[in-house]
Amino acid sequence: MKTIAISAAAWAVALASPLAPAEATRELNIALTFNKLTTQVSIEAYNADRTELLARSCAFSLQDGAFKDFPISFAVDDNGSGNISVQGTAHPTNDDGPVVCDRLYSPTESLVTCSVAVPASVALQDGAIAAECFNKIGSNAGDGPGLAEVFKNMAAAGSDAPEIVSAADAEAVFAQNITAEETFGLAPNSVLGKRQASGECGTAKIVTKLVGNGNPHQNPMNVQLSYPIDCGQGQCSVGATESFTVGWSVSASIGSWLSGGFAVSQSITTGNDYTCYGAKNERVCVWKNQAQTAYTVRDIVQSSKCGVLQERTPVVMWSPNSGGKGSYYYCVHGKNYCRNKGDRWLDKNGRAGGP
Ligand SMILES: *[C@@H]1O[C@H](CO)[C@@H](O)[C@H](O)[C@H]1NC(C)=O
Ligand SMILES: *[C@@H]1O[C@H](CO)[C@@H](O)[C@H](O)[C@H]1NC(C)=O
Ligand SMILES: *[C@@H]1O[C@H](CO)[C@@H](O)[C@H](O)[C@H]1NC(C)=O
Repeated sequence: MKTIAISAAAWAVALASPLAPAEATRELNIALTFNKLTTQVSIEAYNADRTELLARSCAFSLQDGAFKDFPISFAVDDNGSGNISVQGTAHPTNDDGPVVCDRLYSPTESLVTCSVAVPASVALQDGAIAAECFNKIGSNAGDGPGLAEVFKNMAAAGSDAPEIVSAADAEAVFAQNITAEETFGLAPNSVLGKRQASGECGTAKIVTKLVGNGNPHQNPMNVQLSYPIDCGQGQCSVGATESFTVGWSVSASIGSWLSGGFAVSQSITTGNDYTCYGAKNERVCVWKNQAQTAYTVRDIVQSSKCGVLQERTPVVMWSPNSGGKGSYYYCVHGKNYCRNKGDRWLDKNGRAGGP
């Protein structure tokens, strides 16, 4: 039934459109970003896989240049719920088709992305692309990556896609709690190994230290806090039902955890105090962007008699910001981006700096 309904609607749109039905079209990804704090807005048109930015407008409509004869506009509330109009025809900003949209919103931002078929005759390469409407990074309350960056990760494919870790796997890694009990691993035939083996250097130990200033960056962990809920025929609400633990992690084995002097903790719980509201036929889920600081550390093997015996390869350590500073909840609508409860992925592209 559903397939028939969708193709009937697409057929109706084709009939109503002044375009010749046979005209070739090109699929574009149209993204509306709205900053709730400043009410700044931006529409960006990308190619289908979002590798190429084709046009930008700092308004709720895209109607200049290449889009003069093919205007696209949004009439939506703060959370991106409403319509996208393509050449005068309104479609709801959901994933029921023929225009398929997903949306994400936090208390400070909203982002709607829609897949729109544009006639090949729309000359997209014409004219310069307008300057960025506002700085998206830092527009959310926590000054970490905003929703445009979150979506970029969620929509990435292949080797660009972030690794998704299930709740069970994430907890198992944290429970291993690497300690300094491992052997020092100095090659027995090396000069250092011989000095250590002969007892010349006395007892050696591993000390984990920051490398330089640690090159700190904000790398939040994104965690889905609710089941994905399909609203069906009516409106529905989805609450986060569980709180998850986000513990410190490392890119390779390390002697011990250290704060590096940053305002970070060994672990934090996400909390679950958030509800998202979906409309008819929508799939909705609750996520948390749990702020973390990434910094570079290394193990140093040293003894009181000989000093530093070995400096090991630097590794990246991620620790949750104390008190959750910079974290925020967000809602995800659409079948493409709701995953399983507890799924998480690490965003490695945040701004430089500590919490
Ligand atoms: C969306 O479009 C529908 C149908 O044209 C209309 O009834 C509704 O009022 C529109 N909603 C908004 C927020 O513009
Ligand atoms: C890991 O080790 C730290 C420091 O010894 C300790 O505080 C923490 O509770 C341990 N975590 C787990 C999951 O065992
Ligand atoms: C936007 O979503 C939030 C979180 O679910 C909700 O509290 C708020 O009422 C929504 N705003 C509108 C205009 O629907």
